[in-house]
Amino acid sequence: MLWTGDPGVGQMLTTAMFILISLNSVSDTAQNTLDAQLEARCKFKVHDIITCENERLNLQCPDDHSLLLTSIAFGRTDLYQCPHPSIKSTDCSSDTAPGIVRGECDGKNACSFEATTRFLNGDPCGGTFKYLNVSYTCLGQFQL
Ligand SMILES: *[C@@H]1O[C@H](CO)[C@@H](O)[C@H](O)[C@H]1NC(C)=O
Repeated sequence: MLWTGDPGVGQMLTTAMFILISLNSVSDTAQNTLDAQLEARCKFKVHDIITCENERLNLQCPDDHSLLLTSIAFGRTDLYQCPHPSIKSTDCSSDTAPGIVRGECDGKNACSFEATTRFLNGDPCGGTFKYLNVSYTCLGQFQL
């Protein structure tokens, strides 16, 4: 095996797979713990990106790397991010957005789409200007 002798890689693989398997079933709190573990153990850089509603998100990994999104939320949990006169809720999160974003980005080298209620298939809180909050990392070919 290519990575014999490097004790870090086996654990990295285990962690990456654990996270892949866990992605659709863990709570946000557990997800944050996973993100922290991923970053701490594997030195993967996890990027956090906020895209205001109706703006375009472009994610791009280096050549031969693929996207792995580690958290996705479309809605609003923060009053100050993407300021707007129309904010009725700060406890708002789309059920449909995570699956759509995952389908668009996970495993790809790059992805790009607009953070609209149309693309993300529904408005979780009408009258509130929303944002898309994603965290992602880029995995190299031997990391999956
Ligand atoms: C974005 O998501 C992360 C991870 O869940 C969370 O810690 C952070 O507070 C969120 N940021 C905003 C502005 O909602």
